Amino acid sequence: MARCFVTRRLPGGALERLTAAHEVEVWPGASPPPHEVLVERASRSEGLLCLLSDRIDAAFLDACPSLRAVANYAVGTDNVDLAAATARGVPVGNTPDVLTDATADMAFTLLLAAARRLLEGVDAARRGEWMDWSPTTLLGQDTVGATLGIVGPGRIGRALARRAEGFGMRVIESGRTSGVPLDELLSQSDFVSIHTPLTPATRGLIGERELRLMKRSAVLVNTARGPIVDTDALVRALREGWIAAAGLDVTDPEPLPHDHPLLSLPNAVVAPHIGSATHRTREAMADIAVDNLLAALAGERMPHCANPEVYERD
Ligand code: DGY
Repeated sequence: MARCFVTRRLPGGALERLTAAHEVEVWPGASPPPHEVLVERASRSEGLLCLLSDRIDAAFLDACPSLRAVANYAVGTDNVDLAAATARGVPVGNTPDVLTDATADMAFTLLLAAARRLLEGVDAARRGEWMDWSPTTLLGQDTVGATLGIVGPGRIGRALARRAEGFGMRVIESGRTSGVPLDELLSQSDFVSIHTPLTPATRGLIGERELRLMKRSAVLVNTARGPIVDTDALVRALREGWIAAAGLDVTDPEPLPHDHPLLSLPNAVVAPHIGSATHRTREAMADIAVDNLLAALAGERMPHCANPEVYERD
C-alpha cells in the first residue's frame, strides 16, 4: 500500500478504486493547494494525482524524492517538467482521447458564438436593451463556404475539422510536419483555431505579426493553452480591429483578473477553461488518471504515459 496525494476531488467513482488499493489524501479545497502545501504533502507520498494548475518542476521533484509516479488530470502536460521527471525515473501520466470530442465541441461553440456575436446580443437583451428588429443589428460572419485554419492538426484539431466540414467549411491546416506554412494559413483563413500543445517552440506563436497577417474579418479561437497567444497583442488586435473577434477557452494568465480587458471587450468571448467539462469526459479523465497511478504504483507501465522514455532508462 502506497501513500498518494490527490490535489482535488474528482467526479465519478475513480478515486474509490485508488482508495481501495492505497492510502489516499484528497485536497478538500475548491482552489488548488498552495505550492508549499503541495510540496509538503507530495514529499510524504509515492503517488501524486495533480491538475494542470499544479506546477511540477525540477525543484518540486527534488523536494519529493519518494514520488514514484505523477498522474496529471489533463492531456496537456505543460505544467510538468517532463525531462526532469524522466531524469529522476518518474513516469508522468496524462489523459488523451477521452476529451477530444468535448474540447472540439467547445472550439466550435466559441467559433460560432464569436462569429455570430452571441455575447453582445445576449448582454443587450439581459440589460433590457433589446432593440427593434433591424436589418443591420449585430451582423456577424457566415460559416458555410468559409475557410477554417487549424493550427496543430492533432486529435482535437481533426475532430474540429470534422465538425467544420459538416457546416460546409473548407479546412486547411498547419502542423510541424504537415499542411501549409503558418503565415499562409493565417492570411487565408476566415477562422483560425489553435490546437497545438504549449512548448517552448509554441509559446507566443501568435503575436502581433501573426495577428496582423489575419483577415480583418477573421475570428481567432483558442482552446489549447493561453500562452500560445500573446495576450497584449490580442487585446490590441481586438480593440483596433486587426481581427474581428476571438473565442477563448484558455488565456494567459488563468484565471484572468476580473478587470482584464479581455473580459470587457465586446468582441472577445471568453470561457473559463471548460473545454473538457462534460460529466462523461471528466469522469473518464479521472478513470484514466487513476489507472495511470495504479499501474505505476504496481510497478507496471502507465497506460497513458507522457514521458515513455522513462521506461527506456537503465
Ligand atoms: C487538458 O486536458 O489539457 C485540458 O486543458 C483540460 O481538460
